[in-house]
Amino acid sequence: MAKRVAIVGAGVCGLASIKCCLEEGLEPTCFERSDDLGGLWRFTEHVEEGRASLYKSVISNSSKEMSCYSDFPFPEDCPSYVPNSRFLEYLKMYANRFNLLKWIQFKTKVCSVTKRPDFAVTGQWEVVTLREGKRESAIFDGVMVCIGFLTNPFLPLDSFPGINTFKGQYFHSRQYKHPDIFKDKKVLVIGMGNSGTDIAVEASHVAEKVFLSTTGGSWVVSRVWDAGYPSDMVMQTRFENMFINCLPTPIVNWLMAKRMNRWFNHTNYGLVPKDRTWLREPVLNDELPGRIITGKVIIKPSVKEVKENSIIFNNTPKEEPIDIIVFATGYTFAFPFLDETVVKVEDGQASLYKYIFPAHLQKSTLAIIGLIDSLGSRIPTGEIQARWAVRVLKGVNKLPPPSVMIEEVNAKKENKHSGFGLRYRKVLQTGYIAYVDELLTYMNAKPNLFSMLLTDPRLALTVFFGPCTPYQFRLTGPGKWEGARNAILTQWDRTIKATKTRTVEEPPSPFASLLKLFSFLALLVAIFLIYCK
Ligand SMILES: *[C@@H]1O[C@H](CO)[C@@H](O)[C@H](O)[C@H]1NC(C)=O
Ligand SMILES: *[C@@H]1O[C@H](CO)[C@@H](O)[C@H](O)[C@H]1NC(C)=O
Repeated sequence: MAKRVAIVGAGVCGLASIKCCLEEGLEPTCFERSDDLGGLWRFTEHVEEGRASLYKSVISNSSKEMSCYSDFPFPEDCPSYVPNSRFLEYLKMYANRFNLLKWIQFKTKVCSVTKRPDFAVTGQWEVVTLREGKRESAIFDGVMVCIGFLTNPFLPLDSFPGINTFKGQYFHSRQYKHPDIFKDKKVLVIGMGNSGTDIAVEASHVAEKVFLSTTGGSWVVSRVWDAGYPSDMVMQTRFENMFINCLPTPIVNWLMAKRMNRWFNHTNYGLVPKDRTWLREPVLNDELPGRIITGKVIIKPSVKEVKENSIIFNNTPKEEPIDIIVFATGYTFAFPFLDETVVKVEDGQASLYKYIFPAHLQKSTLAIIGLIDSLGSRIPTGEIQARWAVRVLKGVNKLPPPSVMIEEVNAKKENKHSGFGLRYRKVLQTGYIAYVDELLTYMNAKPNLFSMLLTDPRLALTVFFGPCTPYQFRLTGPGKWEGARNAILTQWDRTIKATKTRTVEEPPSPFASLLKLFSFLALLVAIFLIYCK
């Protein structure tokens, strides 16, 4: 009989998990609390409890070629950075293409996931669900938790003395949907992550005044990189990854700062990160420097005190009148349906082996998918986790004994820079490629670049020097996809097609023919030299 796997959540990772179970011959049952799939990518006007909530204008922060499922590229005409409604369309296409819908039970809330009495032998779980007022319970051989980490807002009001006396309006960024609420208001956004920055920029188009308060600063990167290429496609390559790993850290930091400052000098814009290392996750925003240079967004340090109708920032005695405060202070995570003996979250850390398996369980039959925050895109990261986890649940890939896993997890916790516990706030930029490669190695699905160089040099060079797109994870081994090679060789075509919606000819360059002549001559000289030796 096929092993039965319970999947909690039908967002991007839940969908990938269903598909991976089907591929490996396991029987998935996916429980989704809301009435549709898509998780965080399904925008709704109202905040729903227990589900991530986006604002209307959210656009993906990694490009379509970098953030697709590894065997399902986005359509050619889809823009490189995908607005949330298109993203949801894509997820639905994926679900239809692989027939995932029939495995999902909507409007079903998971109340508890507990070990069965004979867990030490069977590794089985009892899952209790609630559906239209009806409680049900079922036994599963494995559980995959795919609830993401954007459901529990972190609102540190204690750090804002006087907030109780504030007469204006304040709320967490999770509540934010549209910019009209800021019309002609004086707005303060606290926190400079992706959402805080987005909200400040959006507010600045209608508000009277906008302050963006940041304690640590941040590098800001545009989606539009040099020559207009998507920034992640240029930066996330195996070549660069290797380059970074070979150089001493101070040099890497220096090079990174130079590169980050090319668009605008972060010191002069009050943004330079306190922690100036390259392992800091940059903020992605195309407009911020333009808003700062026109005075529409004013960058401020942290808040010292909140008064009835105003704010005092650290380092300046002046009071600034404020009507609305937005706390873009991020999220915490929790697993309300799991007992503490299964996963315990402490200081934003949990003991998960490879950020997936609770290290201390006698049987590794529960996996947490998509909690890791690597610098890469979430879909391919979650998908690769699901692929490996399913093979572990099935029993074809084995984990080390708990003692070894616990030791490794603890070592990572101590070394905060490379280790991170559950979510890493500060991730190595190389984290993504290194992490994915590690999981691919366990599955025996990592492409071997050296042998590829001999058999298919064009592909090998594209894989090494080109963007590390997810198709690379399907070139070989279990889960191999026949279309992977072609998808890699056409990744730039799909990227360019989305912006080049008007056909234009490049005017002939007067140097082109000269250049051709030179290369031809150089080739002749080279051949000549080789033969004369
Ligand atoms: C995209 O934004 C999310 C939420 O702010 C963040 O967790 C993730 O790391 C970002 N990804 C990139 C590639 O910047
Ligand atoms: C940025 O500006 C500061 C002065 O405010 C200057 O010292 C620094 O060299 C500049 N950095 C770059 C990369 O131009």
